[in-house]
Amino acid sequence: MAKSENIVWHESVITKQQRQEQKGHKSMVIWFTGLSGSGKSTVSVELEKELYNRNIHSYRLDGDNVRHGLNKNLGFSPEDRAENIRRIGEVAKLMVDAGQVTLTAFISPYQEDRDQVRDLMDDGEFIEVYVKCSVDECEKRDPKGLYKKARAGEIKGFTGIDAPYEAPEKPEITIETDQQSLEDSVQVIIDYLTDKGYI
Ligand code: ADX
Repeated sequence: MAKSENIVWHESVITKQQRQEQKGHKSMVIWFTGLSGSGKSTVSVELEKELYNRNIHSYRLDGDNVRHGLNKNLGFSPEDRAENIRRIGEVAKLMVDAGQVTLTAFISPYQEDRDQVRDLMDDGEFIEVYVKCSVDECEKRDPKGLYKKARAGEIKGFTGIDAPYEAPEKPEITIETDQQSLEDSVQVIIDYLTDKGYI
């Protein structure tokens, strides 16, 4: 719901296309989605490193980090998760406008929330990457000990345990972190970006 009135949009003189031309690559959001512990942060960190080494201007937004600042007033109810994703979507849009390859790593469990971000972006600017990994495997990894807490009833509404995760219906890319190596997962994404002429 918009609360502000009497506001007028101001166009920049420099366009997104000009910024992309200056950098020598396109800008878009690479949206990682998957369960906690599936490998979103790990894969996106490696991808960011690979892009940096290729002189590609990229920046990563990560669930836990953004919840320390911008979204610290949000919890994990479906409404708060929707607002979390909406804000990240708006930030990602600004970053894409600034010419950045923007990597986001949020569980983003609801298809509708992810679709709303896709709708915010221009065609081809939203690349949904499904980080597929079974709950069993994520629970085995349990890097933050949160599955254990959720099983013990210390965390309520934990994704994959007692809150839903809706797998993407038509992701641009699927990586399976319980089947593929980290290097392979990163390479699949690099190949996609190269084949489609993004980088
Ligand atoms: S999202 O659902 O709104 O997209 P987000 O990616 O920002 O979630 O944050 C997920 C991280 O918050 C998890 O990796 C985990 O560390 C932590 N977390 C704390 N409580 C929960 C919960 N109830 N469900 C899922 N993750 C949680």
